[in-house]
Amino acid sequence: MDEVYHIPAMLHETIAGLAVKPAGTYVDVTFGGGGHSRAIMNGLTQDGGRLFSFDQDIEAFQNAQLQMADGKWPTGNASWTFVHSNFRYLRNWMDYYGVTAIDGLLADLGVSFHHFDCPERGFSFRFSAPLDMRMNQTAKRTAADIVNSYSEEDLARIFYLYGELNNGRAIAKNICRARGQKAILRTEDLVSASHIPAERSKELARLFQALRIEVNDELGALREMLVAARDLLAPGGRIAILTYHSLEDRLVKNFLRSGNLDGTIEKDFYGNILTPFTLIEKGREATPEEVAVNPRARSAKLRVAEKRTDL
Ligand SMILES: C[S@@+](CC[C@H](N)C(=O)[O-])C[C@H]1O[C@@H](n2cnc3c(N)ncnc32)[C@H](O)[C@@H]1O
Repeated sequence: MDEVYHIPAMLHETIAGLAVKPAGTYVDVTFGGGGHSRAIMNGLTQDGGRLFSFDQDIEAFQNAQLQMADGKWPTGNASWTFVHSNFRYLRNWMDYYGVTAIDGLLADLGVSFHHFDCPERGFSFRFSAPLDMRMNQTAKRTAADIVNSYSEEDLARIFYLYGELNNGRAIAKNICRARGQKAILRTEDLVSASHIPAERSKELARLFQALRIEVNDELGALREMLVAARDLLAPGGRIAILTYHSLEDRLVKNFLRSGNLDGTIEKDFYGNILTPFTLIEKGREATPEEVAVNPRARSAKLRVAEKRTDL
């Protein structure tokens, strides 16, 4: 396992936003290197405190076990449970553990440093590797499956929507032409098939991001988790979400404003807004000081909401 699994973004602001209750029940749906989970555990200072940490990548759990063996895990009063699962099954797992209400939920979306730094996982164009990109290594569909089987139209849509690549159509066309000659199976095959020159590294990063989002159905999982979180949160409970690209941020923003996936704000007869949330943080960004030491925090946006107590 690598030295630094992940550096959590906006750690202080996120934990402050959650306002951890010392005996509360919390869920961190994106455990990663456990930085946010550890901070929540440190706030659970009274008996009865519980934290459930989800990650669909088993390597996150293996890393947590190493942290424990090294004595780097809080040993307070709270209980901690790791759930090796996609967070889209949040509701089912909470039912399984007999949890009917939670005081807070944290989601720090996307991938960890570990994913980018592990050459063989295929998340980065910096390394030669099989074109994989699965966060859950037991999932069936890899990035190579998508690149070699989707229609040109579908590839163009993904590149435009998830990678915000204005030249998504041209890239999809290049890829389809290249795969007609030889299957695209490795990261370097994709780079060369896309015809994006190596010096346009931002564009390559966006191409890889777009595929990663599709491979892991990141937006589908996020939608399901948001609905489950809304229903599980106790009145006064907090939800804190860190997003890293505009599409997921828009989804979270609209959901927290409206309480539903359509983003439709409902009003009662008197014109009072019926959303279940009060907004606490509306897209806060990392400080320049943090970005200087953790450049990935540059694109992070923190949104926090509290479940209303008056509905
Ligand atoms: C940005 S990292 C989280 C870092 C973490 N907050 C920390 O302090 O180290 C995101 C993590 O969430 C996991 N993840 C992403 N989407 C997931 C999903 N739908 N279900 C479960 N885990 C997911 C990834 O495997 C990754 O380890």
